[in-house]
Amino acid sequence: DWNMGSFVEQAIRSIREQVGDKKVLCGLSGGIDSSVAAVLVHRAVGDQLTCVFVNHGFLRQGEPEQVVKTFRDGFHMNLVYADAADRFLKRMEGVVEPEEKRKIIGEEFIRVFENEAAKLGDINFLVQGTLYPDVIESGTETAAVIKSHHNVGGLPEDMKFKLVEPLRDLFKDEVRVLARELNLPEEIVWRQPFPGPGLAIRIIGEVTEERLHILREADAIVHQEIKAAGLYRKVWQSFAVLPAMKSVGVMGDERTYAYTVGLRVVASEDGMTADWVRLPYEVLDEISRRIVNEVKGVNRVVYDITSKPPATIEWE
Ligand code: XMP
Repeated sequence: DWNMGSFVEQAIRSIREQVGDKKVLCGLSGGIDSSVAAVLVHRAVGDQLTCVFVNHGFLRQGEPEQVVKTFRDGFHMNLVYADAADRFLKRMEGVVEPEEKRKIIGEEFIRVFENEAAKLGDINFLVQGTLYPDVIESGTETAAVIKSHHNVGGLPEDMKFKLVEPLRDLFKDEVRVLARELNLPEEIVWRQPFPGPGLAIRIIGEVTEERLHILREADAIVHQEIKAAGLYRKVWQSFAVLPAMKSVGVMGDERTYAYTVGLRVVASEDGMTADWVRLPYEVLDEISRRIVNEVKGVNRVVYDITSKPPATIEWE
């Protein structure tokens, strides 16, 4: 029988043994895996750990604030908060192709992370929230190299890190149990999967500040209503998308020409296949009304009734 208390003790002992008195770096996303890994390592080596949280500007409403509040104020960790929203948005100008977005965001992300790492200096270890299924999938990796060639700050040589992977024997459901044991907030323990490129791949077409603002507001309403209906933990993902599409509507005596918001709610075991959720009409109605009434620039809401396959969960 699996005992969480003894797992924590064992993990802490082995992290201390591995790390000694050296410094450790962790990229924190606010997702459950990196969060649990960070808290475990923090318990083991305290201030030897520094976490870097990169805000690319494509996060959901309240997310950056929550990460800072949880880890800096709550757990008293050394947390570097890199707000890089402006520079990511600039790099999105004119980009419409989904894979192009992913590539740019991935590259820019590493660049910002490296810059922060370079400022910290003499780091020996990097924490990764690798789970058991990732280990099987990718074989065993033992080192990560952060390259300095495109680093404006300039590192003397490529930084080589040894990996600290305290979750590599665990499955997702065990990580959830562990997260509660470590007193992580419910919002992190039960957070639905969220893609690395974030809202940028939920805006179909070019990502602009205006569109980001609209999507973020609409998505927050979806979140609130799905929670209020008691469905947040029951579904795999529930979110809003913004096709770069306007249609005609009417408000009072006025003709409107405004954005359409798409609603995506799916049930799934692992994200590989998914079924669209038969939401109660009342929930659909409330979401639709609230989005159109509260989010300026939107006059229509549609529900995605396609399963995966043939559609994917995300629209990009
Ligand atoms: P799709 O859209 O392929 O998504 O059905 C399957 C699952 O993967 C997530 N997803 C991503 N996660 N980076 C990520 O970290 C990505 O670029 C990405 N694209 C899709 C998606 O949210 C779903 O859970």
